[in-house]
This record gives sequence, C-alpha cells and structure tokens, in this order.
Amino acid sequence: MNPLRLRPLAPLREIKNQSMKLYRLQRILSNLRRNSRSKSLKLLQQRGGSVNDFSIRRAVETDIPQLAAVHVKAWADTYFTYRNPPTYEIRLSQWKESFRNNDGSWFAYVVVDKNNNVIGFAKGKTYSTADLPDYQGELNKIFLLFDYHRLGLGTRLLVKVAEYFITMGINNMVLFSEPSNPTGWFYEARGAKKLYGKNGGFHGGYAWDNLRDLVKMVKVV
Ligand SMILES: CC(C)(COP(=O)(O)OP(=O)(O)OC[C@H]1O[C@@H](n2cnc3c(N)ncnc32)[C@H](O)[C@@H]1OP(=O)(O)O)[C@@H](O)C(=O)NCCC(=O)NCCS
Repeated sequence: MNPLRLRPLAPLREIKNQSMKLYRLQRILSNLRRNSRSKSLKLLQQRGGSVNDFSIRRAVETDIPQLAAVHVKAWADTYFTYRNPPTYEIRLSQWKESFRNNDGSWFAYVVVDKNNNVIGFAKGKTYSTADLPDYQGELNKIFLLFDYHRLGLGTRLLVKVAEYFITMGINNMVLFSEPSNPTGWFYEARGAKKLYGKNGGFHGGYAWDNLRDLVKMVKVV
C-alpha cells in the first residue's frame, strides 16, 4: 500500500470521529435541561392539574396564534444554542400559510389542557423523495412545552400521527432532527430506527417502517 495515498484520509476519518463524539456529548448535555417525570408531575400538581386533564384533537385554524406561540417557545427551548430563533411573527405566517394550503398533504394535532390551552402539537406530511423512496409519511414536527415533558403526551401525539397516516393508506414515516437533539432517544424508545447517510454518518434522520407496529407497541407500553 502506498502510504502517501492514505495520508489525506486519516485526518478526514479523525474529523468524522470527533464530530460523532461531539453530537453525542451535545445530546447528553442538552438532555440535562429537560424535566424529569417527577418534576413535570410536581409542576402540574402545583397548577392544580393532573395528567388526565389533557386531550388531543385535530388542529384547526383558530389554533394558529397558540400554535405559533407554543412553536416559538418549545423550539427556542429545544435549540437553545441558536442566537436568533424564529420569532412569533415568522411562526404565525408559516402556520397561516399551511392552513391556506390545506390540500390534504398535511395534518396537525394539538394537545390541549382542560381550558383548551395548546401545550403541544405534531404535524404530519406526505413524503416523497428519490433518496428515501420507500417512505410515504413524514413526522414533520413534534413539540411540547418543556413543563409537560415525560408525561406520556409525546407518545400520545406520536400515535395520533401514526393512526392518521394509516387512515391515509400510509404505513411508514421518517423524521429529520438534529443529531444532537436528545429527542432522538424518544424516537428510539418508540421503535424508530436511525437513518444513516451514504458516508455512514448519522445526521438526525429516523424512520418507522411499520406504523401499525408502532401503534400496537404503544398500546401495550
Ligand atoms: C419529543 C417529545 C414530544 C416527547 O414527548 P414526551 O411527552 O416528553 O415523551 P413521553 O413522556 O411520551 O416519553 C416516552 C418515553 O420516551 C423516552 N424519552 C423521551 N424523552 C427522552 C429523553 N430526552 N431521553 C431519553 N428518553 C426519552 C423515555 O423512554 C420515555 O419514557 P419515560 O419518561 O417513562 O422514561 C418532547 O420531548 C419534546 O417536545 N421535545 C422537544 C421538542 C423536540 O425536540 N422536537 C423534535 C424536533 S425534530
């Protein structure tokens, strides 16, 4: 083997290994910001509420202001290192645009408390790309306000999205996140597999190959 030919590859491999380690470390550090289940329960009790207070329903146009507000807050808390996170005006116009283009290619669910306050949401979209031709559904967004994490509400939202895709004749879905986002552990706990790029790297993509299995799995958890 010619060592001269190998030399340029070594630093590249090193950089790749370092960045893999970095996303794992970022994931662990970001996860420290999350509430434990007991902290979320305590906060709920302090507000006089309980886990039975929440329901999930399809998002409607009049939810737009609350969707935008929750989107801004939960996004900024999730991606807390971003200096200029999207503003309320940006999210408002994005949600308005989505509802204007209500062509059946997307749907959203909201989690509401007993006073109909939105505390989280998920959006599903049909998916079609040459890179991942086997997948027809995309979990495009899933966000809960941090005070409501680890109460099982994310799982309930995920199942609603899966069930709706099934009614559309779609039995699989992908999602794309930041590799450093600890929410990856949530997807893995709920049966998603990691998607790897052509270079073998993990870039934050996940997939469920069988949404019926996801729904069945969650019903017994
Ligand atoms: C993703 C999200 C909706 C999950 O909702 P949730 O209500 O907190 O999740 P659940 O309570 O249903 O969690 C179910 C299980 O998933 C796993 N899980 C969830 N979050 C986890 C985490 N950060 N680390 C490890 N495991 C996790 C656990 O096994 C958990 O069960 P447990 O709490 O009994 O241990 C919520 O964490 C969230 O809004 N995250 C921030 C927004 C975000 O990153 N969105 C994705 C952008 S692409």
